[in-house]
Amino acid sequence: MFAINKLVRPPKSLKGTIRVPGDKSISHRAVMLGALAEGDTRIENFLPGEDCLSTISCFKAMGVQFTMEQGGTTVTVHGKGVRGLREPATVLDAGNSGTTMRLLLGILAGQPFFSTITGDASLVNRPMGRVTGLLARMGAGIWGRQGGNYAPLAVKGGNLTGVTLHSQVASAQVKSAVLLAGLFAAGETTLVEPAQSRDHTERMLEYFGAAVSKRDTAVTVQGGVELKAADIFVPGDISSAAFIMVAASIVPDSDVTITEVGVNPTRDGIIEVLKAMGADIQVKNYTVINGEPVAEIRIKHAPLKGVEISGSMIPRTIDEIPVLAVAGACASGETVIRDAAELKVKETDRIRAVVEELGKFGVAIRELPDGMIIRQSQLAGAVSNSRGDHRMAMAAAVAGLAATGESLVEDAACINISFPGFFDLLDSLRE
Ligand code: S3P
Repeated sequence: MFAINKLVRPPKSLKGTIRVPGDKSISHRAVMLGALAEGDTRIENFLPGEDCLSTISCFKAMGVQFTMEQGGTTVTVHGKGVRGLREPATVLDAGNSGTTMRLLLGILAGQPFFSTITGDASLVNRPMGRVTGLLARMGAGIWGRQGGNYAPLAVKGGNLTGVTLHSQVASAQVKSAVLLAGLFAAGETTLVEPAQSRDHTERMLEYFGAAVSKRDTAVTVQGGVELKAADIFVPGDISSAAFIMVAASIVPDSDVTITEVGVNPTRDGIIEVLKAMGADIQVKNYTVINGEPVAEIRIKHAPLKGVEISGSMIPRTIDEIPVLAVAGACASGETVIRDAAELKVKETDRIRAVVEELGKFGVAIRELPDGMIIRQSQLAGAVSNSRGDHRMAMAAAVAGLAATGESLVEDAACINISFPGFFDLLDSLRE
Protein backbone atom coordinates (compact mmCIF):
# COMPACT_ATOMS: atom_id res chain seq x y z
CA MET A 1 0.00 0.00 0.00
CA PHE A 2 1.21 3.55 -0.79
CA ALA A 3 1.52 5.93 2.12
CA ILE A 4 -0.98 8.77 1.79
CA ASN A 5 0.12 12.18 3.03
CA LYS A 6 -2.52 14.78 3.86
CA LEU A 7 -2.11 18.53 3.78
CA VAL A 8 -3.90 20.38 6.61
CA ARG A 9 -4.65 24.11 6.54
CA PRO A 10 -6.08 25.97 9.53
CA PRO A 11 -9.75 26.93 8.88
CA LYS A 12 -11.37 30.26 9.85
CA SER A 13 -13.91 28.27 11.85
CA LEU A 14 -15.70 24.89 11.89
CA LYS A 15 -19.49 24.96 11.61
CA GLY A 16 -22.28 22.49 10.92
CA THR A 17 -24.17 19.38 11.96
CA ILE A 18 -22.66 15.97 11.30
CA ARG A 19 -22.74 12.30 12.26
CA VAL A 20 -19.56 10.35 12.87
CA PRO A 21 -19.13 6.70 11.79
CA GLY A 22 -20.42 3.89 13.99
CA ASP A 23 -18.71 2.88 17.22
CA LYS A 24 -15.77 0.54 16.63
CA SER A 25 -16.08 -1.39 19.91
CA ILE A 26 -19.82 -1.95 19.45
CA SER A 27 -19.42 -2.90 15.75
CA HIS A 28 -16.89 -5.64 16.64
CA ARG A 29 -19.12 -7.04 19.37
CA ALA A 30 -22.25 -7.00 17.17
CA VAL A 31 -20.44 -9.17 14.60
CA MET A 32 -19.15 -11.58 17.25
CA LEU A 33 -22.39 -12.02 19.19
CA GLY A 34 -24.40 -12.04 15.93
CA ALA A 35 -22.22 -14.91 14.69
CA LEU A 36 -22.80 -16.88 17.91
CA ALA A 37 -26.55 -16.19 17.97
CA GLU A 38 -29.36 -18.31 16.55
CA GLY A 39 -30.86 -16.42 13.54
CA ASP A 40 -30.07 -13.23 11.59
CA THR A 41 -28.73 -10.07 13.29
CA ARG A 42 -29.11 -6.88 11.27
CA ILE A 43 -26.53 -4.25 12.25
CA GLU A 44 -27.21 -0.66 11.19
CA ASN A 45 -24.61 2.11 11.16
CA PHE A 46 -21.89 -0.56 11.33
CA LEU A 47 -18.36 0.86 11.09
CA PRO A 48 -16.87 -0.45 7.82
CA GLY A 49 -13.37 0.45 9.05
CA GLU A 50 -10.49 -1.95 8.53
CA ASP A 51 -10.50 -3.26 12.12
CA CYS A 52 -14.15 -4.34 12.03
CA LEU A 53 -13.68 -5.81 8.54
CA SER A 54 -10.88 -7.94 10.04
CA THR A 55 -13.40 -9.31 12.55
CA ILE A 56 -15.83 -10.14 9.75
CA SER A 57 -13.16 -11.93 7.71
CA CYS A 58 -12.15 -14.06 10.74
CA PHE A 59 -15.75 -15.21 11.19
CA LYS A 60 -16.11 -15.89 7.45
CA ALA A 61 -13.14 -18.23 7.81
CA MET A 62 -15.15 -20.07 10.50
CA GLY A 63 -18.18 -20.54 8.23
CA VAL A 64 -20.31 -17.50 9.14
CA GLN A 65 -22.03 -15.69 6.27
CA PHE A 66 -22.63 -11.95 6.02
CA THR A 67 -24.76 -9.72 3.79
CA MET A 68 -23.38 -6.18 3.40
CA GLU A 69 -25.53 -3.24 2.18
CA GLN A 70 -25.34 0.58 2.16
CA GLY A 71 -21.62 0.74 1.49
CA GLY A 72 -20.94 -1.75 4.27
CA THR A 73 -22.75 0.26 6.97
CA THR A 74 -25.63 -2.23 7.14
CA VAL A 75 -24.49 -5.77 7.85
CA THR A 76 -26.64 -8.84 8.37
CA VAL A 77 -24.89 -11.61 10.26
CA HIS A 78 -26.35 -15.03 9.52
CA GLY A 79 -25.75 -16.48 12.99
CA LYS A 80 -24.61 -20.07 13.51
CA GLY A 81 -25.56 -20.48 17.17
CA VAL A 82 -23.23 -20.93 20.14
CA ARG A 83 -21.92 -24.26 18.82
CA GLY A 84 -22.00 -23.46 15.09
CA LEU A 85 -18.48 -22.23 14.25
CA ARG A 86 -16.27 -24.54 12.19
CA GLU A 87 -12.52 -25.05 12.30
CA PRO A 88 -10.82 -22.42 10.11
CA ALA A 89 -8.65 -23.86 7.35
CA THR A 90 -6.42 -20.75 7.28
CA VAL A 91 -4.61 -18.56 9.80
CA LEU A 92 -7.09 -15.98 11.12
CA ASP A 93 -5.82 -12.45 10.43
CA ALA A 94 -6.75 -9.74 12.95
CA GLY A 95 -4.85 -7.08 10.96
CA ASN A 96 -4.16 -4.04 13.16
CA SER A 97 -7.00 -4.81 15.56
CA GLY A 98 -6.28 -5.63 19.20
CA THR A 99 -10.02 -5.94 19.86
CA THR A 100 -10.38 -8.59 17.13
CA MET A 101 -7.46 -10.63 18.42
CA ARG A 102 -8.18 -10.43 22.15
CA LEU A 103 -11.95 -10.94 22.01
CA LEU A 104 -11.64 -13.67 19.40
CA LEU A 105 -9.12 -15.52 21.61
CA GLY A 106 -11.91 -15.81 24.19
CA ILE A 107 -14.26 -17.32 21.62
CA LEU A 108 -11.59 -19.61 20.15
CA ALA A 109 -10.76 -20.84 23.65
CA GLY A 110 -14.28 -22.24 23.85
CA GLN A 111 -14.25 -24.08 20.50
CA PRO A 112 -13.65 -27.83 20.20
CA PHE A 113 -11.18 -27.22 17.36
CA PHE A 114 -7.69 -25.98 16.54
CA SER A 115 -7.10 -22.44 15.28
CA THR A 116 -4.27 -20.01 14.69
CA ILE A 117 -4.39 -16.20 14.69
CA THR A 118 -1.96 -13.45 13.77
CA GLY A 119 -1.93 -9.75 12.89
CA ASP A 120 0.10 -6.94 11.33
CA ALA A 121 3.55 -5.73 12.40
CA SER A 122 2.06 -3.60 15.20
CA LEU A 123 -0.32 -6.24 16.57
CA VAL A 124 2.25 -9.06 16.76
CA ASN A 125 4.19 -6.85 19.17
CA ARG A 126 1.27 -6.11 21.49
CA PRO A 127 0.92 -8.15 24.71
CA MET A 128 -1.55 -11.02 24.56
CA GLY A 129 -0.40 -12.73 27.78
CA ARG A 130 -2.93 -10.68 29.77
CA VAL A 131 -5.62 -12.65 27.89
CA THR A 132 -3.96 -16.00 27.14
CA GLY A 133 -2.88 -16.45 30.77
CA LEU A 134 -6.46 -16.10 32.04
CA LEU A 135 -7.92 -18.30 29.29
CA ALA A 136 -5.37 -21.00 30.12
CA ARG A 137 -6.69 -20.96 33.71
CA MET A 138 -10.14 -21.79 32.30
CA GLY A 139 -8.59 -24.83 30.56
CA ALA A 140 -7.69 -23.57 27.06
CA GLY A 141 -4.44 -24.60 25.38
CA ILE A 142 -2.78 -21.52 23.86
CA TRP A 143 0.73 -21.34 22.43
CA GLY A 144 2.63 -18.39 21.03
CA ARG A 145 5.92 -16.55 21.06
CA GLN A 146 7.38 -15.82 24.50
CA GLY A 147 5.11 -18.13 26.44
CA GLY A 148 1.95 -17.14 24.59
CA ASN A 149 2.45 -13.39 25.04
CA TYR A 150 2.79 -12.55 21.35
CA ALA A 151 1.03 -13.60 18.15
CA PRO A 152 1.09 -15.68 16.01
CA LEU A 153 -0.92 -17.74 18.48
CA ALA A 154 -2.31 -21.27 18.26
CA VAL A 155 -5.39 -22.28 20.23
CA LYS A 156 -6.83 -25.68 21.11
CA GLY A 157 -10.05 -24.91 22.90
CA GLY A 158 -12.98 -26.71 24.46
CA ASN A 159 -13.81 -28.16 27.90
CA LEU A 160 -13.54 -24.86 29.75
CA THR A 161 -14.38 -24.55 33.42
CA GLY A 162 -16.05 -21.47 34.88
CA VAL A 163 -13.78 -19.80 37.47
CA THR A 164 -13.26 -16.40 39.10
CA LEU A 165 -10.37 -14.50 37.54
CA HIS A 166 -8.73 -11.18 38.38
CA SER A 167 -7.31 -8.99 35.63
CA GLN A 168 -4.21 -6.91 36.45
CA VAL A 169 -5.29 -4.19 34.00
CA ALA A 170 -8.56 -2.28 33.56
CA SER A 171 -9.06 -3.55 30.04
CA ALA A 172 -12.35 -4.18 28.27
CA GLN A 173 -10.52 -6.44 25.86
CA VAL A 174 -9.30 -8.70 28.67
CA LYS A 175 -12.69 -8.67 30.42
CA SER A 176 -14.54 -9.38 27.17
CA ALA A 177 -12.25 -12.27 26.20
CA VAL A 178 -12.94 -13.98 29.55
CA LEU A 179 -16.71 -13.32 29.41
CA LEU A 180 -16.93 -14.65 25.84
CA ALA A 181 -14.99 -17.77 26.86
CA GLY A 182 -17.42 -18.01 29.80
CA LEU A 183 -20.28 -18.59 27.33
CA PHE A 184 -18.66 -21.95 26.54
CA ALA A 185 -17.54 -22.87 30.08
CA ALA A 186 -19.21 -25.19 32.55
CA GLY A 187 -20.87 -23.13 35.29
CA GLU A 188 -20.23 -19.47 36.04
CA THR A 189 -17.27 -17.36 34.98
CA THR A 190 -16.45 -14.14 36.86
CA LEU A 191 -13.93 -11.49 35.87
CA VAL A 192 -12.87 -8.87 38.40
CA GLU A 193 -11.04 -5.81 37.10
CA PRO A 194 -9.05 -3.19 39.05
CA ALA A 195 -11.18 -0.32 37.67
CA GLN A 196 -14.25 -0.10 35.47
CA SER A 197 -13.47 -0.44 31.75
CA ARG A 198 -15.95 0.00 28.89
CA ASP A 199 -18.95 -2.31 29.38
CA HIS A 200 -20.29 -2.80 25.84
CA THR A 201 -19.80 -6.59 26.00
CA GLU A 202 -21.87 -6.96 29.17
CA ARG A 203 -24.62 -4.78 27.75
CA MET A 204 -24.74 -6.60 24.43
CA LEU A 205 -24.58 -10.07 26.01
CA GLU A 206 -27.69 -9.17 28.01
CA TYR A 207 -29.34 -7.79 24.88
CA PHE A 208 -28.72 -11.13 23.13
CA GLY A 209 -30.22 -13.09 26.04
CA ALA A 210 -27.12 -14.22 27.98
CA ALA A 211 -27.26 -14.49 31.78
CA VAL A 212 -24.99 -11.69 33.06
CA SER A 213 -24.71 -10.12 36.51
CA LYS A 214 -22.51 -7.30 37.82
CA ARG A 215 -21.24 -6.27 41.25
CA ASP A 216 -18.82 -3.35 41.51
CA THR A 217 -16.09 -4.20 38.98
CA ALA A 218 -16.94 -7.94 38.88
CA VAL A 219 -18.96 -9.35 35.99
CA THR A 220 -20.35 -12.90 35.92
CA VAL A 221 -21.63 -14.83 32.92
CA GLN A 222 -23.41 -18.19 32.91
CA GLY A 223 -22.10 -20.85 30.52
CA GLY A 224 -24.22 -22.96 28.17
CA VAL A 225 -26.91 -20.34 27.48
CA GLU A 226 -28.15 -19.86 23.89
CA LEU A 227 -27.91 -16.39 22.32
CA LYS A 228 -30.81 -15.03 20.29
CA ALA A 229 -30.27 -12.80 17.24
CA ALA A 230 -31.24 -9.18 17.91
CA ASP A 231 -31.05 -6.13 15.66
CA ILE A 232 -28.46 -3.51 16.55
CA PHE A 233 -28.17 0.20 15.80
CA VAL A 234 -24.54 1.22 16.33
CA PRO A 235 -24.27 4.76 17.77
CA GLY A 236 -21.64 7.15 16.46
CA ASP A 237 -18.20 6.49 17.97
CA ILE A 238 -17.43 8.98 20.77
CA SER A 239 -13.72 8.22 20.21
CA SER A 240 -14.12 9.53 16.64
CA ALA A 241 -16.35 12.42 17.75
CA ALA A 242 -13.54 13.36 20.17
CA PHE A 243 -11.35 14.63 17.30
CA ILE A 244 -14.15 16.90 16.08
CA MET A 245 -14.97 18.01 19.64
CA VAL A 246 -11.41 19.09 20.33
CA ALA A 247 -11.15 20.70 16.88
CA ALA A 248 -14.31 22.75 17.48
CA SER A 249 -13.07 23.76 20.94
CA ILE A 250 -9.72 25.09 19.71
CA VAL A 251 -10.63 26.65 16.32
CA PRO A 252 -12.02 30.19 16.94
CA ASP A 253 -15.71 30.86 16.31
CA SER A 254 -16.59 27.17 15.78
CA ASP A 255 -20.03 25.67 16.47
CA VAL A 256 -20.50 21.99 15.64
CA THR A 257 -23.30 19.55 16.46
CA ILE A 258 -22.68 15.79 16.32
CA THR A 259 -25.87 13.72 16.32
CA GLU A 260 -26.43 10.14 17.53
CA VAL A 261 -23.18 9.73 19.46
CA GLY A 262 -22.73 6.89 21.97
CA VAL A 263 -22.44 8.39 25.46
CA ASN A 264 -22.02 5.21 27.50
CA PRO A 265 -20.74 6.42 30.93
CA THR A 266 -17.70 4.13 30.64
CA ARG A 267 -16.71 5.98 27.45
CA ASP A 268 -17.78 9.60 27.94
CA GLY A 269 -14.75 10.85 29.90
CA ILE A 270 -13.86 13.14 26.99
CA ILE A 271 -16.99 15.21 27.70
CA GLU A 272 -16.20 15.48 31.42
CA VAL A 273 -12.54 16.36 30.82
CA LEU A 274 -13.27 18.96 28.13
CA LYS A 275 -15.94 20.53 30.39
CA ALA A 276 -13.39 20.69 33.23
CA MET A 277 -11.06 22.43 30.76
CA GLY A 278 -13.76 25.08 30.21
CA ALA A 279 -15.13 23.79 26.90
CA ASP A 280 -18.61 24.89 25.81
CA ILE A 281 -20.42 21.54 25.42
CA GLN A 282 -24.11 20.72 25.54
CA VAL A 283 -25.35 17.13 25.55
CA LYS A 284 -29.05 16.64 24.80
CA ASN A 285 -31.69 14.33 23.27
CA TYR A 286 -30.64 11.33 25.37
CA THR A 287 -32.09 7.97 24.32
CA VAL A 288 -31.12 4.37 24.95
CA ILE A 289 -30.83 2.14 21.88
CA ASN A 290 -30.15 -1.60 22.27
CA GLY A 291 -28.94 -0.97 25.81
CA GLU A 292 -26.51 1.83 24.85
CA PRO A 293 -27.05 5.52 25.76
CA VAL A 294 -27.01 7.84 22.74
CA ALA A 295 -27.17 11.67 22.58
CA GLU A 296 -26.48 14.78 20.53
CA ILE A 297 -23.37 16.80 21.36
CA ARG A 298 -23.02 20.50 20.52
CA ILE A 299 -19.62 22.07 20.99
CA LYS A 300 -18.52 25.65 20.47
CA HIS A 301 -15.13 27.29 20.60
CA ALA A 302 -14.08 28.35 24.10
CA PRO A 303 -10.82 29.22 25.85
CA LEU A 304 -9.46 26.10 27.56
CA LYS A 305 -7.48 25.72 30.77
CA GLY A 306 -5.11 22.92 31.76
CA VAL A 307 -6.29 20.00 33.94
CA GLU A 308 -4.95 16.75 35.39
CA ILE A 309 -6.24 13.51 33.84
CA SER A 310 -5.45 10.45 35.99
CA GLY A 311 -6.84 7.55 38.04
CA SER A 312 -10.24 6.13 37.07
CA MET A 313 -10.59 8.80 34.36
CA ILE A 314 -7.88 7.05 32.32
CA PRO A 315 -9.93 3.98 31.25
CA ARG A 316 -12.78 6.38 30.37
CA THR A 317 -10.53 8.45 28.05
CA ILE A 318 -7.87 5.94 27.03
CA ASP A 319 -8.32 6.29 23.25
CA GLU A 320 -8.79 10.07 23.49
CA ILE A 321 -5.46 10.89 25.16
CA PRO A 322 -3.64 11.81 21.91
CA VAL A 323 -6.29 14.39 21.00
CA LEU A 324 -6.67 15.54 24.62
CA ALA A 325 -2.93 16.28 24.51
CA VAL A 326 -3.66 18.58 21.55
CA ALA A 327 -6.38 20.29 23.63
CA GLY A 328 -3.80 20.59 26.44
CA ALA A 329 -1.36 22.32 24.09
CA CYS A 330 -4.03 24.97 23.44
CA ALA A 331 -5.06 25.29 27.09
CA SER A 332 -3.70 27.85 29.54
CA GLY A 333 -1.21 26.55 32.10
CA GLU A 334 -0.35 22.88 32.33
CA THR A 335 -2.18 19.68 31.45
CA VAL A 336 -0.91 16.61 33.29
CA ILE A 337 -1.69 13.03 32.23
CA ARG A 338 -0.75 10.27 34.71
CA ASP A 339 -1.59 6.59 35.37
CA ALA A 340 -1.72 5.99 31.62
CA ALA A 341 1.14 3.51 31.08
CA GLU A 342 -1.33 1.39 29.05
CA LEU A 343 -0.80 3.93 26.24
CA LYS A 344 2.60 2.35 25.64
CA VAL A 345 0.99 -0.87 24.37
CA LYS A 346 -1.59 0.63 22.02
CA GLU A 347 -1.23 0.64 18.20
CA THR A 348 2.07 2.40 18.85
CA ASP A 349 3.67 3.69 22.08
CA ARG A 350 1.27 6.62 22.32
CA ILE A 351 3.17 8.38 25.11
CA ARG A 352 6.39 8.53 23.09
CA ALA A 353 4.51 9.21 19.84
CA VAL A 354 2.42 12.10 21.22
CA VAL A 355 5.45 13.70 22.87
CA GLU A 356 7.59 13.47 19.72
CA GLU A 357 4.90 14.39 17.19
CA LEU A 358 3.43 17.34 19.14
CA GLY A 359 7.01 18.45 19.76
CA LYS A 360 7.29 18.95 15.99
CA PHE A 361 4.45 21.53 16.20
CA GLY A 362 6.48 23.41 18.82
CA VAL A 363 4.44 22.13 21.77
CA ALA A 364 6.22 22.22 25.14
CA ILE A 365 5.63 18.64 26.24
CA ARG A 366 7.51 16.29 28.56
CA GLU A 367 7.31 12.51 28.75
CA LEU A 368 6.52 10.79 32.08
CA PRO A 369 6.79 7.03 32.69
CA ASP A 370 2.98 6.83 32.81
CA GLY A 371 1.86 9.93 30.92
CA MET A 372 3.01 13.42 29.97
CA ILE A 373 3.00 17.10 30.96
CA ILE A 374 1.90 19.61 28.33
CA ARG A 375 2.23 23.39 28.55
CA GLN A 376 0.22 25.90 26.53
CA SER A 377 2.09 26.60 23.29
CA GLN A 378 1.70 28.48 20.04
CA LEU A 379 1.49 25.68 17.47
CA ALA A 380 3.41 26.08 14.20
CA GLY A 381 2.61 24.03 11.08
CA ALA A 382 4.68 20.83 10.97
CA VAL A 383 5.31 17.59 9.11
CA SER A 384 4.05 14.83 11.37
CA ASN A 385 4.15 11.07 10.89
CA SER A 386 1.32 8.79 12.04
CA ARG A 387 3.59 5.78 12.68
CA GLY A 388 0.71 3.77 11.19
CA ASP A 389 -1.53 4.66 14.15
CA HIS A 390 -4.96 5.99 13.13
CA ARG A 391 -5.47 8.07 16.25
CA MET A 392 -2.00 9.62 15.99
CA ALA A 393 -2.80 10.66 12.39
CA MET A 394 -6.07 12.33 13.41
CA ALA A 395 -4.56 13.99 16.48
CA ALA A 396 -1.85 15.49 14.24
CA ALA A 397 -4.52 16.71 11.81
CA VAL A 398 -6.37 18.44 14.68
CA ALA A 399 -3.08 20.02 15.84
CA GLY A 400 -2.66 21.28 12.27
CA LEU A 401 -6.06 23.03 12.46
CA ALA A 402 -4.84 25.14 15.40
CA ALA A 403 -1.35 25.80 13.97
CA THR A 404 -0.07 28.78 12.03
CA GLY A 405 0.65 27.80 8.41
CA GLU A 406 0.28 24.44 6.72
CA SER A 407 0.91 20.99 8.15
CA LEU A 408 1.41 17.61 6.56
CA VAL A 409 0.22 14.34 8.09
CA GLU A 410 2.38 11.58 6.66
CA ASP A 411 1.05 8.03 6.36
CA ALA A 412 -2.57 9.04 6.93
CA ALA A 413 -4.24 6.05 5.19
CA CYS A 414 -4.41 4.27 8.58
CA ILE A 415 -7.28 6.62 9.49
CA ASN A 416 -9.49 4.12 7.62
CA ILE A 417 -8.99 1.76 10.55
CA SER A 418 -11.54 3.66 12.63
CA PHE A 419 -12.75 6.79 10.82
CA PRO A 420 -13.25 6.39 7.06
CA GLY A 421 -14.08 9.83 5.56
CA PHE A 422 -12.42 11.80 8.39
CA PHE A 423 -10.86 14.48 6.16
CA ASP A 424 -14.02 14.88 4.02
CA LEU A 425 -16.13 15.33 7.14
CA LEU A 426 -13.66 17.87 8.53
CA ASP A 427 -13.67 19.73 5.20
CA SER A 428 -17.49 19.83 5.23
CA LEU A 429 -17.28 21.86 8.46
CA ARG A 430 -14.69 24.38 7.22
CA GLU A 431 -15.72 28.01 6.83
C1 S3P B 1 -11.39 -1.57 23.29
C2 S3P B 1 -10.83 -1.44 24.55
C3 S3P B 1 -9.68 -0.58 24.82
C4 S3P B 1 -9.47 0.46 23.72
C5 S3P B 1 -9.56 -0.15 22.36
C6 S3P B 1 -10.91 -0.80 22.15
C7 S3P B 1 -12.52 -2.51 23.13
O1 S3P B 1 -8.51 -1.37 24.93
O2 S3P B 1 -8.23 1.11 23.89
O3 S3P B 1 -9.38 0.84 21.37
O4 S3P B 1 -13.24 -2.44 22.11
O5 S3P B 1 -12.73 -3.34 24.02
P1 S3P B 1 -8.12 -2.08 26.31
O6 S3P B 1 -9.26 -2.91 26.71
O7 S3P B 1 -6.92 -2.93 26.02
O8 S3P B 1 -7.81 -0.96 27.26
